[in-house]
Amino acid sequence: MTMDLDDRARAVLEELKRQRQEGVDAVYLEQETIDGLRTALGAMETKVSSAVVPEAKPEPKPAPKPEPKPAPIEPVASSSAPPVEVAEVKPKPIAKPVRKAEPAGPSVLPPPPEVNLPDGDPESRMSWLRDLVVACPTCNANLNPGAKVVFGVGNPAADVFFCGEAPGHDEEMKGEPFVGAAGQLLDKIISATGLTREGVYIGNVMNWRPQHDQAFGNRPPTEEEMNFCLPYLKAQLEVVQPKVIVALGRTAANALVQPDPSAKMGDVRGRWWEFEGVPLMVTYHPSYLLHNPSMLGKRRVWEDVLLVMERLEMPISDKQRGFFQ
Ligand code: URA
Repeated sequence: MTMDLDDRARAVLEELKRQRQEGVDAVYLEQETIDGLRTALGAMETKVSSAVVPEAKPEPKPAPKPEPKPAPIEPVASSSAPPVEVAEVKPKPIAKPVRKAEPAGPSVLPPPPEVNLPDGDPESRMSWLRDLVVACPTCNANLNPGAKVVFGVGNPAADVFFCGEAPGHDEEMKGEPFVGAAGQLLDKIISATGLTREGVYIGNVMNWRPQHDQAFGNRPPTEEEMNFCLPYLKAQLEVVQPKVIVALGRTAANALVQPDPSAKMGDVRGRWWEFEGVPLMVTYHPSYLLHNPSMLGKRRVWEDVLLVMERLEMPISDKQRGFFQ
């Protein structure tokens, strides 16, 4: 597939917006990327302005070319530079609104489903719930071609419930949450605590990957989409009855504890919230760490994980305490 410059610039901007929604306060951009965005934004502006200008009358002098706008995102450091610890660098707002991502599936969803869990042990209740969600007509109607409904995995009686946002491409193809790059990082974080992927529970707010018309990247779910899937997430929480929930990123935090929408992710993470009486820790989404290779992000996530381990009264070695020190 070939993409023109506008499409590529839009895709990059959509991805940056998605990351900002997840709580990413700063990004690393190669100088080459910044130059490319600058060129593309300049080209897009030129197209827009020429589209609204009426048929040009012959003028004695050609109109001056519009100055290319500066790139909207400040580089923190190029990835070739040594990692720099950056304290909450705010990206400049994206200069112009880009095409609004709209769900490509049904625009109006039915009311959220009502889930009446059967009695039984966690395994059988979770298996009943999985069958229900995998067969959900609305979830299936919103799938990308060839994709699967994604339901949670892990121990249905786990002490810790990790909750992400929505499946990405790898997850929708496999029908399993957190199996792509972010998932591999999540697995590493889990094993650094001494736990295993099979020993915890891993779910998402969404059971399908929100559709969009960009060539790559993910679209954050709309409020309507999240509200539709929320009863399925709540039912999984009801089965697992974890001792601690870890909300990965802003979407999961918004879905479960509704922090002040104007609060920065840096203020929301690292402290205890509560979801229906269960202590809930908000931390950065693993994709934040993938896109922000500074040690600061990793250290912050690890600090949050240590709080979770303390809450669970897990043994913590000096080595574990000293990670990222
Ligand atoms: N990101 C998420 O939030 N969930 C997944 O399952 C994968 C990536």
